[in-house]
Amino acid sequence: MNSLKLLLLDCSPRRENSTSRHFTQHLLPALSARLGRDIQITRRNLGVEPLEAISAEYADSLVMPAAAAKERFGDALALSDELIEELDQADILWISTPVYNFTVPGVLKNWIDLVVRRDVTFTTTETGKVGLLRDRPTFVAVTSGGAMFREPALQPDFFRPYLTAVLGVIGIEDITYVPATGLAFADEPLSVVQTKAAQWLREDQAVSGV
Ligand SMILES: Cc1cc2nc3c(=O)[nH]c(=O)nc-3n(C[C@H](O)[C@H](O)[C@H](O)COP(=O)(O)O)c2cc1C
Repeated sequence: MNSLKLLLLDCSPRRENSTSRHFTQHLLPALSARLGRDIQITRRNLGVEPLEAISAEYADSLVMPAAAAKERFGDALALSDELIEELDQADILWISTPVYNFTVPGVLKNWIDLVVRRDVTFTTTETGKVGLLRDRPTFVAVTSGGAMFREPALQPDFFRPYLTAVLGVIGIEDITYVPATGLAFADEPLSVVQTKAAQWLREDQAVSGV
């Protein structure tokens, strides 16, 4: 059987001590084992090699019909085209990220701004935006210093509602959040995320659609 293609978006600027990278590192091999399939990873190291910020030409192109935008601003759309193609090729999307100021880090927002494009990844209808990409299993391995996602909330959660809404716009709705929170209070955050990864993997997490 062919291996599954997984697009990994690594969003922390930290390297060896990054809790989100460590979390993902412990989750991915077991995901592969659970699926009984090899996973071929394409990695965008957004945290360490951030994408360039969007240009004026790219912003202008977004308000034009896609064909006209392509003709006029082809070069300015090249990176966006590449990222969309990369996403479209993936059987699984895996986002590995910290929470920054109650929401996603800027580097992930930048990727989103380059991937959410009218008439390319979504279309507008009288009832709102409709995604043009096929849905696929999407995992968000997310770490935070404080107790994000706790009920009752100690911090406002603009992270999950935002990511769910914006990925939904392009057609991605099968999203599983895998959180490891409260790490600022841990003596050894890396061993905490390792334990949380093992815990998540012991639970019977169904992975549909692959
Ligand atoms: C700029 C910045 C903003 C942060 N904002 C939050 C926040 O709103 N809530 C929270 O719980 N932790 C917040 N944190 C803590 C990180 O989410 C936490 O340290 C996380 O484990 C970092 O992941 P990493 O080790 O993969 O970089 C913030 C950290 C930074 C650097």
